[in-house]
Parts: sequence; structure tokens; C-alpha cells
Amino acid sequence: LRWQDPLASAKEYFRLFSGEKFPIWTDPCTDSRHRTIVPPTFNCSARVLPNLLIVGPQKTGTTALSSFLTLHPDVSQNSPDPRSFEELQFFGGSNYENGIEWYSRHFRHSIVVFEKSATYFDNPNAPKQAAALVPNTKVLIVLYDPAKRAYSWFQHLIAHNDSGALSAGSLDVILDANEGFAEEGTSLKNVEAWKKIARRCLSGGRYTQHLERWLQFFPLSQIVFLDGEKFLEKPAEVLHELVEKLDLPAFDFANYIKFSKSKGFHCRVVQNKLKCLGKGKGRSYAPMSEATRMRLGKHFSLHNSALHKFLRRSGEPVPKWLKID
Ligand code: A3P
Repeated sequence: LRWQDPLASAKEYFRLFSGEKFPIWTDPCTDSRHRTIVPPTFNCSARVLPNLLIVGPQKTGTTALSSFLTLHPDVSQNSPDPRSFEELQFFGGSNYENGIEWYSRHFRHSIVVFEKSATYFDNPNAPKQAAALVPNTKVLIVLYDPAKRAYSWFQHLIAHNDSGALSAGSLDVILDANEGFAEEGTSLKNVEAWKKIARRCLSGGRYTQHLERWLQFFPLSQIVFLDGEKFLEKPAEVLHELVEKLDLPAFDFANYIKFSKSKGFHCRVVQNKLKCLGKGKGRSYAPMSEATRMRLGKHFSLHNSALHKFLRRSGEPVPKWLKID
């Protein structure tokens, strides 16, 4: 294989390797096979790839975490891609087809270079594709109460006027449909839409199920767990611990992150003013009812106890919310 235009390269590749369904990008700077098929303009001394992936799951505070982490002078984040809600969503997503030249164009040199795409965590193809391109990267997973996360997802859909979520009206109706108890007379179209929403609300919170896949491709020593609930309450403290784990020089986050009473969340301090995340992050909505909480707790109970066991066995700290659960 030699460099030619992408379509011709792809055709040639699949002619040679007909058993493969998807291309797997490795790093052309360390894999000579791929060196020959990237454009001649590809410059190994200039190319930057991440050494930290914040993989999610979604709705666990990943945007706030990224925004606060970049306060550190030795940390840089990928530039945003407006077509996919700022996230690159490269591994396991359609942007993977854009190739590594496209991907690496979004990074700049720093001690820690990170990419945050919260869709990676429960994406079946992301771990394999990430391990092929950036095998030495650290993988950060935010551990957050999956019941709260599911509720936050539902509220996200309501805020976006999602027709399925609006027609259900409550997360309980969605959960009913998922358990096969849709009210008589409900259209099949609605039931299907509600089941799809249920999958999105519930999937990312089944931690061990997805963690298993990441551990097939990355050693535990490269996985970094972060307690999302503790981060919500004490971001500076959690960032201090994270920076230590990443072998970065200490940084006084507490000076640059303050609680905003009006937002109800911590925000960055920029030129003596608080700069909070936009209205899509840290929404205000009615609290989850106790009944829904219990129901979700039941749904996640086995998954949570498996996570608890896994963390204990691995010598990792167990988040407070998981102990109580
Ligand atoms: P809600 O908007 O439902 O409260 P993500 O960025 O991964 O999509 O997560 C969004 C969630 O981050 C928010 O969900 C909010 O609870 C949480 N979060 C944690 N710290 C935050 C902060 N400082 N500002 C805004 N949201 C924060």
C-alpha cells in the first residue's frame, strides 16, 4: 500500500484485507505499515496525539472536569468540533473515517494532552480503536451515581424537546415501557422510542459491563477512576488528586474555581468574575422522586455491587455514593 487519495487507499486496503470490515488506525509514527499510507505532508515531529482520554460516561460532569482541568498550565485539550457537540467522537464514531491526520490536527503539545468524548465509555468499538492508535494513553472514567445520571439524561432530552421524552412525560413511563408495561393503547412507535430512550439513560451507568471491554485493551494501571459526586462538591480537591495521579506539578485550583450561588455549581474565576458552564450543563429541574430513585437503584443494584467488588479488589477507593448504595 502506498499513499493515494483516501477512497483509492480504502479500496486497495479492503482488496488486500477482505476479512476486515473497518480500518484500524495505528500511529504512523511508530507503525511503518501506516507510515506508507498517510499523506506525504504528515509530519511526525509536529503530530500530537492525546495521552489522556476522558471517556465519560455522558452526564457525569465531564464538561466541567475538562473545563477545570485546562486551568492547569501543563494541560491542553482538543480543539472543539462544532458538528458533534464540541466533542471529536473519533473512536467508534463516524469521525473515525476522517483519519488520523484529521484527528491529530485538533491537539497541541503539552505535558498532558487530553481528549474528552463522553460517548466513548459505552461505545463497543472505542476501546479497540483507541488502543490501536494511542496504546499508552491514560483512560479516565468518571464514577457517578447511575440513577442520577439516568435522570439527568432524561432531563437533557426534555430540555431539547425530544418528542419521545415529551410524549412519555416522565422517566417512569420510559422505564415501564422498557420493562414491558406500557399503558394499553400506547402506539408501537412510542413504545419503541421510549425503549430507545431507556437504553440511553441506563446503558452508561452499567459500569462493569463497559469497563470489562476497556480492560480487554488497556491495563488497569492506565485506567484512572474519578469520583464524579465528590468532584461536583469539591472540584478543587478532586483535581488536586488527579494532577498527582497524572504526575503533573501541583496547581492551586481552589484559587480559580469558586461556587456560584446563582448557578448552584462551581465555576471558573476569570478576571475576578465567575464564568460558569452554559445553560445546558447544570440545569435546574424538579428533583427525582423517591419512588423513581428506588426503582433505578434496583435496576443498577447488581451492576453497582459488581463495581464495588471490582474497586475493592483492585485497591481503588470506593466512592461514597457507591458505599451507601
Ligand atoms: P445536569 O445538567 O443534569 O445537572 P456532562 O458534562 O458529562 O454532560 O455532565 C453534565 C452534568 O455535569 C450536569 O448535569 C451537572 O450535574 C454536572 N456538573 C458537575 N459539575 C458541574 C459544574 N461545575 N457546572 C455544571 N455542571 C456540573
